[in-house]
Amino acid sequence: MTFANDLVTVHFLACTSLRNMKWFQDDHSELKLGVKSDKCAIHPWTTHSIWSEVCQSEILQKTFYHVIAKKYPPSEKYRRSFLKELMNQVESSGEVCAEEIFTLYVDLLQFCEEKTSYKSYFLPMMEIYVTLKESTNMLSNGTTGLVTWTGSMVLSEWCLTNRKLFDKKHILELGSGCGLLGLVLSKSFEMKSFTFTDVHPDVLEQLRANVHLNGLCQGKHSVKYFNWQERTPDEEKPDIILAADVVFDPLIVPDLARTIANFLCNNTSAVAFIASTIRNESTYQMFLSQLDSNKLNYFEQEQSKSSEVFFFDRKWDVRILKISMS
Ligand SMILES: C[S@@+](CC[C@H](N)C(=O)[O-])C[C@H]1O[C@@H](n2cnc3c(N)ncnc32)[C@H](O)[C@@H]1O
Repeated sequence: MTFANDLVTVHFLACTSLRNMKWFQDDHSELKLGVKSDKCAIHPWTTHSIWSEVCQSEILQKTFYHVIAKKYPPSEKYRRSFLKELMNQVESSGEVCAEEIFTLYVDLLQFCEEKTSYKSYFLPMMEIYVTLKESTNMLSNGTTGLVTWTGSMVLSEWCLTNRKLFDKKHILELGSGCGLLGLVLSKSFEMKSFTFTDVHPDVLEQLRANVHLNGLCQGKHSVKYFNWQERTPDEEKPDIILAADVVFDPLIVPDLARTIANFLCNNTSAVAFIASTIRNESTYQMFLSQLDSNKLNYFEQEQSKSSEVFFFDRKWDVRILKISMS
C-alpha cells in the first residue's frame, strides 16, 4: 500500500468525525503525524483561493480517488457526509462548487445503506495503512465486536510508545473484535507470535478476513475461538495478554478477571495490559475488585499526549492497567 502525505487523506480513509476534519495541512499537524507535506496545491499559500475549483479537485484526488479509497472505500454514508461538508465549506467561502462534486453526491444518493465498509488507519512511524472491514453500526448481529472501539486505538498508541516490552514476545489478545490492536502491533514489532481471540462467530469471520486483508503470515499470527466463560487452555502460555474495551458487562466481569488470572498462572512471568473506556465507573470498580479477589497486582499506566496517532474523540476517559501475579 502507498503512504499518505496529507491529513485530508488520513482523515477520510479512517472516517474520522467531520467536525475534526483537517482540510488543510499546517506545520503542527505535520509534526503530530510525523509525515512530510508535499507542498500540495491545497496549501493556503498557493496562488489559488483555498476553495477554488483546482483545490476542490485536488481534495477529491486525495480522498475519493486515492488508491486505497478505490480498493477499500469508506462507507457510503461517510462519503455522502464528506461531500456535503465539502460543499458547505466551498459555498460559505463564496466559491462555486465543482460539477464533479455534485455528480459524486447524486451518485451516492442512489445507494441504499450497506452493512459493512472499510476504514484505513494510518501508522505514521511505518508510513503504512492498516485496513479493516467494519460494520457501519456499533451493535450488529448481537455483538459489539464488528467495529473498532476507542480502547483499541488508545492501547495501540500506548504499545507503540512502549515497544521494547513487546519485542520477541508471545502475545495473546482477548476479545479482539475487528483486530486493530493486533494488526497495528504485528505491523510494528518483531514479536514471536500474536494470537487474536474472540467468541462471536461473525466477529471471528471478520477478524480472519481482516488478518488476511493485511497480509499477515499464518503460523505467527492466528485467530482462535476463546470464550472467557469456558476453561482457559493450559497449553496457551503467552508472555503478554492484551485486551481493549472488554470491561462492559457486570455479568461476565468475574469470568474475564478469572481468565486473566489463569493466563498469568500458566506463565508466572507474564503480564496483562487491559485498556478500558470508562462508561460505567461501578462496572470498572467491580473489575478491580475481581482482580483483588484473584490476588492480582494492578497499576494504572501513564499515557502521554505525544504518543497520539489516531484521530478520534479524546473526551473519553480510557485507563490502561498493567496486571501481574502478586
Ligand atoms: C466492545 S468489543 C471490543 C472489541 C475490540 N477489543 C476493540 O476494542 O475494538 C468487546 C469484544 O469482546 C468480545 N467478547 C464479549 N464477551 C466475550 C466472551 N465471553 N469471551 C470472549 N470474547 C468476548 C466481543 O465479541 C467483542 O469482540
